[in-house]
Amino acid sequence: MAIKRDGQYVTFGQHIQEQQQHFPSASGQFSWLMSGITLATKMIASYVRRAGLIDVWGEEGSTNVQGEEVKKLDIIANDALKKTLGYRGNVGIIASEEDDEPRVLQEVDDDDSYIVMFDPLDGSSNIDVNVSVGTIFTIFRNPKDVEGAEKSVLQPGSKQVAAGYVLYGSSTVLVYTAGNGVHQFTLDPQFGAYLLTRENIKMPAHAGTYSVNEAYLHRFPEPYQRYLGWAKHEEGGGYKSRYVGSLVADFHRILITGGIFMYPPTTEQPAGKLRLMYECNPLAFIAEQAGGLAAGEGGQPIMEIEPADVHDRTPLVIGSKDNVKEALRFIMDPVKV
Ligand code: AHG
Ligand code: MN
Ligand code: MN
Repeated sequence: MAIKRDGQYVTFGQHIQEQQQHFPSASGQFSWLMSGITLATKMIASYVRRAGLIDVWGEEGSTNVQGEEVKKLDIIANDALKKTLGYRGNVGIIASEEDDEPRVLQEVDDDDSYIVMFDPLDGSSNIDVNVSVGTIFTIFRNPKDVEGAEKSVLQPGSKQVAAGYVLYGSSTVLVYTAGNGVHQFTLDPQFGAYLLTRENIKMPAHAGTYSVNEAYLHRFPEPYQRYLGWAKHEEGGGYKSRYVGSLVADFHRILITGGIFMYPPTTEQPAGKLRLMYECNPLAFIAEQAGGLAAGEGGQPIMEIEPADVHDRTPLVIGSKDNVKEALRFIMDPVKV
């Protein structure tokens, strides 16, 4: 049920204003920036909900910097975010999974300048078959003392100011953190407003569910194979498996009900498939704020990884803290997280 304060629903904008009291440094600029993101996701939601009625199925015809076929909705989502953020005035740089290079929107001229990076449409292979897809975003401060957009964006996840995602699922939910807990809002299509539906979400410490693409089992390093053999065996974890194929959908289930998601290194992609800056870092920020863990290569905390390129990939093990620690006991020694 939507949460009320003094008998009133709490919109996302009101919640951000409340949060500002915890961050005196963040001026109203931050909430203005966040309103650009939420506006874009409402536009994207309207396209996703009309897929099939309007021409958003299928490929757009080009291949992106990731080497993946671009879907029509990838472009629509990317354009929606660039247009709304472009008019926010305090967004100095944007970087997108769909664009080769980061883009300077405004030269850095005051303290309130931000960098926004995003995966405009996550799980795009699921659009044509009506399975949940998402948008993932992360916000950093735009450093004044760094020359060039491609360098300004190369910050470890620990420097994130805020991060979040929108899951276009059975309902449209926005989940975000600004470093003071994880909060969920549900888009009310009547009001066109995101209303607070979960506050200070805490991920269960453990659950008996693992999430991985088992088709690649034989391509994973042996320690991951050993962990998965243990996890499914009744003498081991005896866990069940859930895998949607949209990271945001798999992660949201784990945020609410617990468990573990992993996209290990494979023989084809030794650094894994998922992107550090606009998929793994934002979800790692949310996971840790909710009491979970997120580890990359060799068990290194995701948010400690120093990026070399805006499109860096990283292996990912993320979810309930006891599930992640259990997995890392197989995958690496000693456990670092
Ligand atoms: P995107 O659609 O932004 O490229 O992301 C797809 C990702 C992620 O959403 C999901 O967890 C993963 O690809 C699924 O990959 P496999 O199909 O290899 O399992
Ligand atoms: Mn993605
Ligand atoms: Mn994507």
